[in-house]
Amino acid sequence: MAKKTMQDVELTGKRVLIRVDFNVPRSKTTGEITNDVRIQAGVPTIKYLVEQGAKVIIMTHMGRPKGEVKEELRLDRVAERLAELIGQPVKKLNEVVGPEVEAAVAAMQNGDVIMLENVRFLPGETDNDMELAKQLAALGDVYVNDAFGTAHRAHCSTEGVGRILPGVMGFLMDKEISVLGKALSEAEHPFVAIVGGSKISDKIGVVQNLLEKVDCLMIGGGMANTFLKAKGYEMGTSLVEDDKTALALEIMQHAEAMGKKLLIPVDLTVAAAIEQPETAQTVGVDAVPADKMALDIGPETVKLYQQAVSDAKTVIWNGPMGVFEVDAFAVGTASVAQAVANSGAYSIVGGGDSVASIEKAGLNDKIDHISTGGGASLEFLEGKKLPGIEILQDK
Ligand code: 3PG
Repeated sequence: MAKKTMQDVELTGKRVLIRVDFNVPRSKTTGEITNDVRIQAGVPTIKYLVEQGAKVIIMTHMGRPKGEVKEELRLDRVAERLAELIGQPVKKLNEVVGPEVEAAVAAMQNGDVIMLENVRFLPGETDNDMELAKQLAALGDVYVNDAFGTAHRAHCSTEGVGRILPGVMGFLMDKEISVLGKALSEAEHPFVAIVGGSKISDKIGVVQNLLEKVDCLMIGGGMANTFLKAKGYEMGTSLVEDDKTALALEIMQHAEAMGKKLLIPVDLTVAAAIEQPETAQTVGVDAVPADKMALDIGPETVKLYQQAVSDAKTVIWNGPMGVFEVDAFAVGTASVAQAVANSGAYSIVGGGDSVASIEKAGLNDKIDHISTGGGASLEFLEGKKLPGIEILQDK
């Protein structure tokens, strides 16, 4: 069932309580925002609310302060950056709820913007405590959820307030679920997906759901080792989830039975350890030395995956192909990033690491949809219902 959007409700003069996901990366030393993509992505919704003459009350989390005030996780810099981007003041409050907040909201004029303090400073937030939800909901007349990145969490600001206030989607939420939803239901074929990351246990749901939809699924990163082990290859000291080899085998058999291509690496870059890139060498999957570990896909695998991507009409990529933080093991991920960017396919990239590789290579403009969701986009692609969306009003 489609959810209501901001266009479906009266906003002028209303107090609009909006949840965004401005959980952005910051420098550990200076605290400066190192990537503001999530803030930029929230700007159209906030500007629209301002233009409609709403009183805009912004909620977001930052990090995982576990219900305590952590000075380094205050939102002052986020509010400053947002103010620059929307070209008007954003009044940042030092509390999430309470008299200071109530007074600030009562003094708002139409078109004003305020930002509450990090909602996760209160333990009730992640507990979805309804007392806190009531206090937050009392600040607004309408609830807008634009926090796709946090839509998989049933927290007070993402779900609880939606039980009390009429809730609608913001533009970003709407765009994310329509793009990802269309990819799942009406993608142009050939539809290929590349799934990477270290553990099969983290990605199993998405692999299984995507297999039903795509023509070809390529596996990379540490999780590929478990598939290779399941096929009988010796993986040296590589990360392998031994308790998942049976599942990996089952997935490969299921893919074959459905006539789907499930590609796994044919060669690998191996080394003695992540910290010893000087020991790196390329080997076939049948020749992994007993004292070495797989840390990236190899050049033949890159070619194979590039070929599959170049023939595609729709491509989804989530998860790195190797330990891309180390240059010697970043070639596979960078090559996949390039292939996805160069393909004529409609391209969707999600997950923090894949998005970071796209950004590092300066390829943002060549990707059709970069999802602001990490865990949320994965759960969505798994076919799960996200509580932050479910709670919003049906059309
Ligand atoms: C994210 O960065 O994936 C979202 O902001 C959600 O954060 P969380 O995993 O701490 O809930």
